[in-house]
Formats: sequence, C-alpha cells, structure tokens
Amino acid sequence: MIRIAVLASGGGTNLQALLDACAAGGIDGRVAVVLSNVPGAGALARAERAGVPTEVVPSKGVTDRAAHDAAMLERLARHGPDLVCLAGYMRLLTPGFLRAFGPSATSRGCPRVMNIHPGLLPSFPGIHAQRQALAYGARFAGCTVHFVDEGTDTGPIVAQAVVPVLDDDSEEALAARILAEEHRLYPKAVGWFAAGRLSLDGRRVCVEGARGPELAALRAPWDE
Ligand code: GRF
Repeated sequence: MIRIAVLASGGGTNLQALLDACAAGGIDGRVAVVLSNVPGAGALARAERAGVPTEVVPSKGVTDRAAHDAAMLERLARHGPDLVCLAGYMRLLTPGFLRAFGPSATSRGCPRVMNIHPGLLPSFPGIHAQRQALAYGARFAGCTVHFVDEGTDTGPIVAQAVVPVLDDDSEEALAARILAEEHRLYPKAVGWFAAGRLSLDGRRVCVEGARGPELAALRAPWDE
C-alpha cells in the first residue's frame, strides 16, 4: 500500500475523488497527508473530514520559491509519502522539489509527482485551459494526468479523457463536463501507479496490462 501526499490550493474535489477511491479499494494506497499553500482552502476541510493529517505552507507574498519548496519537503517528510499528487495546486514546483521525488527503486523509471490538468495536453497548458479551448474553437476538450517535470504541464502523459465542446457551451459548463472526467481519470491513474503498472520509456508512459477498446474515431460535431 503506497502513501500519497496530495497538494491542493482550492476546493479539493479531485482530492475527494482520490480519498474516495482509496476508501473503496480502487487505489492500493492511502492519502497520508494533504498540504496546501492556501490557509483555509476547501481541500484542508475535506482532509480533516476524512481524518487525514494536514500541513499548510502559505505562499502568499513569498518570492523565494526554493525556500518555500524546501519548507514543503520538510513537512512532507514527516509523512513519508511515496507519491505526490497535485490536485489543483496552483504553483510551479522547483527543480529541488522534483529531484526529491524523482524515480525510486520501485517506480520503474517513473517520477513520483503527478498532476491533473483540465485540458488535452500538449494543447492549452497553464491556467484557464477550458477557457483557452473554448476561445480557440476546439471541438474536443478534456483532461490529462501527467508526471510533473520542470515545465508547465509538459511532463510524460499517463492518461487522458476527452469531452466534446458544444456550440452553446459556457466556460462553466465545459469546465463541469471536464471535471466529471477528472474525477474518474485521476484515481484510475494513481491506482495504476500504486499497483506498479506504470513504467517510463523515453517520455512514453506504459500501462502494464492495459487493453484498448476497438479503435474508434470520435467525431464532433455530430450530424445524424
Ligand atoms: C481542476 O480542474 C484541476 O484540473 C485544476 O484545478 C481544478 C481543481 O479543482 N488543476 P479541485 O480543487 O480538485 O476541485
């Protein structure tokens, strides 16, 4: 059973999906700590409700990113996590932090920091991915679980889910459609990591034993 640290800045619905999947046995692991850079973040309340220890390392006004991340590492070390999951954590991590959670003896070459991004990478990295997809006129949007490297949403892709963009979509409607998929996709990807099924070949992530559906094309818009 792996120990998971979740880093969150906001409401924590993805954290909740991970907590629920651990409780239901979908992930062979448990959330050992929730760390936030935002005092009072909804994610902290969710952790407390689930009986999970919390840590807060405020980032407001902090300019020394290396010192901030070093403080986070020190707090996380108390909980001995095997994997760090970013779930709406709105800051870039420093190289020093990422080195501390580089590949381990058992991670089959995979780094040990994962993120969920509400866009189909490599399109629309960074903030407001849903707004970017809508403004661009993309017909499909979605979400991506990826390992984290030093870039913004540039690390190796573990899994993606696709949703259509509808002609009358608002940013909120599209974001809600994507979020529902995030809640399905992230626990699945973390479950694969926990089961030791992920390995890294260059920047391609392999999922051991994954069977694909019949290859099918998705098309949008549909026209009967
Ligand atoms: C999600 O859309 C996630 O993909 C993005 O920030 C949002 C966080 O939502 N990085 P929540 O805090 O998990 O509810």
